[in-house]
Amino acid sequence: MNESEYFEMAVKTRPTRIKWWQEARFGMFVHWGLYSQLARHEWVMNRERIPIAEYEPLADSWHPKERPAREWARLAKESGMKYMVMTSKHHEGFLLWDSKLSDYNAVKHGPGRDLVAEYVDACHEFGLRCGLYYSLMDWHHPDGANCAHDDGARRRFLDYTQGLVRELCTNYGKLDILWYDVSWPLRTPAMWESAKMNAMVRELQPDILINNRSQLDEDFGTPEEEVRAAEGGRNWEACMTFNGSWGYMPSAVDWHSTRAVLGMLRTATAGQGNLLLNVGPAPDGTVPAEAYERLEPLGKWLKLNGEAVYGAVSNANHMEWMPTGQWTIKGNTAYYWCNRWPGKQLTIGGLQSKLLHASLLATGESVCFDQQEDRLTLFGLPETTPDPYAGVAVLKLEFESAPRQKLGAGCIVL
Ligand code: GLC
Repeated sequence: MNESEYFEMAVKTRPTRIKWWQEARFGMFVHWGLYSQLARHEWVMNRERIPIAEYEPLADSWHPKERPAREWARLAKESGMKYMVMTSKHHEGFLLWDSKLSDYNAVKHGPGRDLVAEYVDACHEFGLRCGLYYSLMDWHHPDGANCAHDDGARRRFLDYTQGLVRELCTNYGKLDILWYDVSWPLRTPAMWESAKMNAMVRELQPDILINNRSQLDEDFGTPEEEVRAAEGGRNWEACMTFNGSWGYMPSAVDWHSTRAVLGMLRTATAGQGNLLLNVGPAPDGTVPAEAYERLEPLGKWLKLNGEAVYGAVSNANHMEWMPTGQWTIKGNTAYYWCNRWPGKQLTIGGLQSKLLHASLLATGESVCFDQQEDRLTLFGLPETTPDPYAGVAVLKLEFESAPRQKLGAGCIVL
């Protein structure tokens, strides 16, 4: 298959391959590696200029507890996440799996076992889709930097890279996502042989989704640390840290609140995108308590309000901003995520479609309303927010036609 045949095939098969992902909305990112032991961010090797010889012993001092991936998968499931993506190799170059291509791997060193295999098993056990992150940049491989200006080094490094990706796509059964990262130092997809590599991936894993970080657009865009829709209507997934660091870092104490994560999920849903929220487990694999504290209520919230999040949603870009809440949309139904509860009465201006029924999503209780011209008032509401988990109560508004909202800056819409 030549390059253009490859691209054509990927585009043609995309709608079928990506359907589950477009409806899944919420996933867990896991950054875990040797750097977790230093607990100073996953870039610690580079930022502190730690020489390879000084870094390498971390491979032998790493002793994770038994099967922590089961704890992550259980947490992901209970938090309402539908898939996971774990770092199989981060920039530090250490391989979490049983590789034939390098001994700098988890089986040959401290852990003494295949951590990718454990992770894949855990995803399956908890019914989660399974993704692997793979950093193209490699600070450990002798050709990882040289490859930019030495053809021999580039050939060796590409053979190594393609060999590792082949192992991942061959040895662990069906994978759902391949999540590439940082393509330094090669400047073009041709230099990386990305099309050839990804064609190999799709031959081994015909249903897989591939992100856009091998310098090819592939299946979805990956805005980082911002929840913003990709351009041109492309599929997108925002990846977000929980506390400003991807890797375990206890001194990073500014954790996003449950309400803040719900805000991210709302923005992703409104723009038909996904949210990949990171946890950085401790070296033994334990997820920090701060993550549990925030994800547990989130999971409970999603059990009651998931209808406003999962499944085939419409773009909410024809709705307006409101001081008391924000929207997500599905067909003729609008979900109003009221995060500033106004009291017994809530008024929304500018709605162009006729409301047929209003209810509180979490309980199904009907809500009385009055719709006059472009003013909708809901009344008989509880005095304070009825949502005990995050103070975000969702009103389900079922309209006669697709909801539209129009408000000018003045008093009258011209
Ligand atoms: C950045 C960082 C990396 C992290 C990734 C996640 O590219 O280099 O450490 O894994 O973002 O999206």
